[in-house]
Amino acid sequence: MEATRSRRYGTGDDVAAEVRQAVRAAVWAPSVHNTQPWTFGVHGSRITLRADADRRLEAADPDGREMLISCGAALFTLRVALRALGREAHPRVLPDPDRPHLLADVHVGAPIPVDEHAQRLYAAVRYRRTHRGAFKPTGIRPSLLNALRLEAEHEGARLIQAVEGHTQQALAGLTQAAEHLQRMDPAHAAETARWAPAPGSTRSDGVHQSAYPGWTPPTDPHFPGRDFARGHGWGTVSDEPADPSTGLVMIIATPGDTPLDWIGSGQALQRMLLRAAAEEALAAAFHTQALEIPELRELIRTRFTNGHYPQVLLRLGIPAGPDLTTIRRPVNEVIVEEHHS
Ligand SMILES: Cc1cc2nc3c(=O)[nH]c(=O)nc-3n(C[C@H](O)[C@H](O)[C@H](O)COP(=O)(O)O)c2cc1C
Repeated sequence: MEATRSRRYGTGDDVAAEVRQAVRAAVWAPSVHNTQPWTFGVHGSRITLRADADRRLEAADPDGREMLISCGAALFTLRVALRALGREAHPRVLPDPDRPHLLADVHVGAPIPVDEHAQRLYAAVRYRRTHRGAFKPTGIRPSLLNALRLEAEHEGARLIQAVEGHTQQALAGLTQAAEHLQRMDPAHAAETARWAPAPGSTRSDGVHQSAYPGWTPPTDPHFPGRDFARGHGWGTVSDEPADPSTGLVMIIATPGDTPLDWIGSGQALQRMLLRAAAEEALAAAFHTQALEIPELRELIRTRFTNGHYPQVLLRLGIPAGPDLTTIRRPVNEVIVEEHHS
């Protein structure tokens, strides 16, 4: 995406075009099972982000926590796009306690000078991808890791790395236990099936076979993926990488566990993912199964995140394996033109 560099101050049409362009970027945020659980109301220089509760995962996400993390990621993308397009963005998060699905009200402000950092992040919006498999054994610069930690802190979250071998093995084991428990549970299995369409599907949401490998090389420790293929052998064909690695194991956690913390976690997630993608072509593989089972989430909170509430568990590294693709709904399905009297 090329940012608009022209500075035609002030006409309403400019703002309308920039608002649409920013929404077009925001939909490329990650969302659990690619549910894309959001709508964007646009009215002049205001954008209202709402959660689309019909897209919440009833079995995996009864409280809407992951739905709000996903929307938080979209909100950060919207902010970064506006800045890259040369517009100040003033978001008010959860502006009305009586309307819990109204997640943010973003006022698009005056033109600002071109912000090159925002433009680099904005450019990464379209090539950032969820990875599902092994990473290359390459390490990550400590200075970048530190920068990613700070990015998360700016949004009120912590990025906690599981450094110790036993901690990583325990988290991998808990992920495996969660994956088995979910496969055993008919409601969970049906929900995964609903969001993982069969090959040939023309749907523009969900996790398609072009988004996951048909086979993932074992790593040590090994974090199992979701059962998108459900025994059908679906998935993208991949070769065995030379030296498959787990990558860095990380948890995004927050001091509280309220809708505000969930939206903040999503903003932190996308903020650090875009920085990681822009600076070193790093990608994340998410493994949030254990965080969807309250007892396991509580165990992770008390044992591994120092009492902070774990929101997202991920591995980070340079992807090994096939290039995967992802899909989004047309932007017209998520933009609502609002006319206030
Ligand atoms: C809160 C959250 C939880 C997620 N959990 C998983 C997961 O457990 N396994 C997985 O493969 N992907 C997971 N994802 C990634 C989504 O499936 C992915 O963002 C979506 O399919 C869109 O693809 P993209 O990120 O490549 O654009 C998660 C994403 C979010 C935001």
